[in-house]
Amino acid sequence: MNKSQDFQTWSFAIQQQMEVTLSGLLPSASQLPQRLHEAMRYAVLGGGKRVRPLLCFAAGQVVSATVERLQYAASAVELIHAYSLVHDDMPCMDDDVLRRGKPTVHVEFDEATALLAGDALQTAAFESITSHSLCNEPADQLKMVKILATASGAAGMAGGQAIDLASIGQPLSLAELENMHILKTGALIRAAVLLGSYCGDTLVTAERDKLDRFAKLMGLAFQVVDDILDVEADSATLGKTAGKDAAHDKPTYVSLLGLKQAKLRAEELETEALDCLNVFGGRAERLRQLAHFIVHRAF
Ligand code: IPE
Ligand code: IPE
Ligand code: MG
Ligand code: MG
Ligand code: MG
Repeated sequence: MNKSQDFQTWSFAIQQQMEVTLSGLLPSASQLPQRLHEAMRYAVLGGGKRVRPLLCFAAGQVVSATVERLQYAASAVELIHAYSLVHDDMPCMDDDVLRRGKPTVHVEFDEATALLAGDALQTAAFESITSHSLCNEPADQLKMVKILATASGAAGMAGGQAIDLASIGQPLSLAELENMHILKTGALIRAAVLLGSYCGDTLVTAERDKLDRFAKLMGLAFQVVDDILDVEADSATLGKTAGKDAAHDKPTYVSLLGLKQAKLRAEELETEALDCLNVFGGRAERLRQLAHFIVHRAF
């Protein structure tokens, strides 16, 4: 098996595992209130690249964490991510009709159900991360909860989304754009890596700092590539409407730097991120593969 097949086999196994775990965490569609539960399951199951869970599992490999623990940490991040997508697509935000190759939740159901499904997915994330023992040191699990809460809230994803909406039609500086990306997308990507790293052996501070720097750089790179794909890929490949950033006059890496410079920036971020992994040797191989996937993906 070559390296690319090996990565695909590993990713596929985790994606399958996540489908089972997430399905078990979500309320049954036959239980009341059925419409809410159906919308939650619709938003989470049967789609998405599951990049955040993959990052969580890859970071878990650095510290020899078990699947039993990683599945709940990874689910927590994915549930927050799925909630953020449901709200991001609503008419009051990006007003999108297509997500993960299907009609968006407010289109398939209705706006109130989409709002509530997002809310309930957010709390389901915190149930996932608090209902099982995930760390060798119990006190570390409290740190995990804080990491997820901070990454999701005003100092993370929600704050970044607020800046995104306030920036429509505004000429942002590169530093302002970078800050927006680090918050709206980077924060959760970073949390995915950090949470995985808390599920196993304890890292020394210097190692934790390196992993954190890797995660921050990958978080930014992820959104730079998302901006590039919005311009270069088509809706069928992306499973979401392409070209909408320009249509909505959103400042992006492409609008600010142009396609060529944006791609160079993504590659620079990858190189810098990979450097941070040297201290981990072979234990960080999955993280290296994911860094490559995030920067060179086609969807
Ligand atoms: C899309 O995220 C939204 C951003 C934060 C850029 P993904 O590209 O990870 O979406 P899915 O989970 O694969 O659908
Ligand atoms: C979304 O950024 C970031 C989130 C927190 C959901 P985008 O608005 O660019 O994500 P897509 O392109 O709709 O997936
Ligand atoms: Mg958006
Ligand atoms: Mg959007
Ligand atoms: Mg986008």
